[in-house]
Amino acid sequence: MPLLAIVYFSISGTTEKLAHAAARGADGLADVALCRVTGDDIVSGRFRNEKLLETIDRAGAVAFGSPTYMGGPAAQFKAFADASSDRWSKQAWANKIAAGFTAGACASGDQLHTLTYFSILAAQHGMLWCGLDIPGGEDPGGRNRLGSQLGLATHLVDGALPPSDISTAEYLGRRLAKMAVRNG
Ligand SMILES: Cc1cc2nc3c(=O)[nH]c(=O)nc-3n(C[C@H](O)[C@H](O)[C@H](O)COP(=O)(O)O)c2cc1C
Repeated sequence: MPLLAIVYFSISGTTEKLAHAAARGADGLADVALCRVTGDDIVSGRFRNEKLLETIDRAGAVAFGSPTYMGGPAAQFKAFADASSDRWSKQAWANKIAAGFTAGACASGDQLHTLTYFSILAAQHGMLWCGLDIPGGEDPGGRNRLGSQLGLATHLVDGALPPSDISTAEYLGRRLAKMAVRNG
């Protein structure tokens, strides 16, 4: 089975719920490594968790997750991304499948910019981007509620993640794992 590395940052737990849902979706198709970026990984402004980077070295697929902060990924996630530049110079992560998910407080809180950033990060690494093949508003289960096909964008409704968004995260994890299996 391929390894799916889910690399995410989360403070209040919303993005973490999405990460766990993506992991459930991949169950039976891929081994999953949940890699939470924490503030302690960052020393003097630099991401220093080499073990996490080595986990991605071994993965066939990677999901990037971060809350949208001020219209982009959280600084802690960006510190991780910046620390991947040694791998970038060798294209060490080329041809891995990649996808992304993000949460915001607002329905249109510029989550697209965070997903766009993830897809550019993947492109820099020579990874293959895996979006959502669910037309927004057309799925009987209400998945891809906000109609974002670049990746999963969510926002809290009455302080909670809607079940359809959890289900979309499961779907994205499953789709990513299937692509990793297909990619060999
Ligand atoms: C510093 C900061 C900046 C934020 N900026 C945005 C934003 O630009 N757009 C948005 O929709 N929500 C924004 N939010 C809300 C968070 O994205 C939202 O609470 C998210 O669910 C937090 O994720 P977490 O529970 O995984 O930590 C911001 C929150 C903080 C603390």
